[in-house]
Amino acid sequence: MSAQLPREPSLLSMDVKTSKKIEINHRRNKELDHTELLDDAAKNFNYADCKDSYWNPEKFSLLHGTPLWDEASESQRVLLNQLYWVAYYSQIISAEIATIFFNQTSAAGLFGLNDFRGVCDMLDLESAQERAHINAFFTVSEKVEEEVFGQRIFSYDMRNPYAQTMIFPDTNKLKDVWRNVQLRSYAVLSSGSAFIASQYFTVRGLRTLNGKMVQQRLSQFYQKDPNKENLPIPSAISYYHYMDESFHFNSSCIIGHDVIRSLPKPTAFETLVGNMGILGCQKDHSNFSVVVNGLFWYEPALFESVYKILRSNIFNMCDREAKEMMRRCFCQENDAVHASFNTMELAIESYKKYLDPLDYVNQGNKDLALMRKMSIEKYLNTNKKAFQKFEVPAGYESNHRAQVVLS
Ligand SMILES: [Fe+2]
Ligand SMILES: [Fe+2]
Repeated sequence: MSAQLPREPSLLSMDVKTSKKIEINHRRNKELDHTELLDDAAKNFNYADCKDSYWNPEKFSLLHGTPLWDEASESQRVLLNQLYWVAYYSQIISAEIATIFFNQTSAAGLFGLNDFRGVCDMLDLESAQERAHINAFFTVSEKVEEEVFGQRIFSYDMRNPYAQTMIFPDTNKLKDVWRNVQLRSYAVLSSGSAFIASQYFTVRGLRTLNGKMVQQRLSQFYQKDPNKENLPIPSAISYYHYMDESFHFNSSCIIGHDVIRSLPKPTAFETLVGNMGILGCQKDHSNFSVVVNGLFWYEPALFESVYKILRSNIFNMCDREAKEMMRRCFCQENDAVHASFNTMELAIESYKKYLDPLDYVNQGNKDLALMRKMSIEKYLNTNKKAFQKFEVPAGYESNHRAQVVLS
């Protein structure tokens, strides 16, 4: 005698369109997977082979549009272009370390419902790809900094996912501890609630939207060049990475926007946690920078790195010259300040569209109210205040926080 077990078909299995989207996105990502190409690129990278060429479109150069850029020689500009790559992808490494972890905790939360195996398998592939991405970014960044400066400027030792995701944040010891507690709590909550798990992908989607704005342009540098085999390996890495990431962005949209309809309605607590996640994301994205055009980077946290670059034998500046140049770049209006603020405004509009269809998101988050508080005036005032402290010469030269490469 066979008994019928009491199992209702899940909402996800009845949503044929979304189930199909998940299956196609996973299958195509597996077919086109760029892991091997990225691993080979990392293995074959030799800085000497590409040290004289641009790796990105010119606009994607460190401090592009600042007085430093305007007055730089051609060879200095080439290096600023390469350093943009190093700095940008050093930030991506940190974001992807967090992604690997929260893909897993969120998959655990979603796997607690019937018929979610497809979603979880898709996320497993993405996490494995992120490890290859990180390896490629790490390999190139460390080799460049080692050969050019003999010390770290933007790169860092491997870190765990509870570290600050922004590598140059507006922080202090207390804020670091608080962020650590928040991330640990989020890990536990997302692994135990399908709704909170699905909302991780709304936050991931916002971050990827931002990444897409830059990475699409970086990838085109390689994609549009007919002479691909002669292009620098880092340009190829940008392209391979973007190819994988376009599938990750799709999966963020599918889980954050479509799968959410197949989940039980969120409780008041889950709604609160979902909104807190988006607010945290707004906070992380509420600074803009002229060092790396765009969001994430808190300018005063970058002063030391920029100072090291100016004092290195690439720019050969003395202490006074370096600080005067930094004052002109960070404390006065210039083209770069406007260009970066413009990037922020574009990001706000695209985030708004992304969040609009989500019922549970509160008005403050839908309007990106926190990000909108930033202005050029506020940016310059923050920099001026922080720069005054940075400039104080007393003990500076002997202070080992600036172990500069003196020429
Ligand atoms: Fe990635
Ligand atoms: Fe990704």
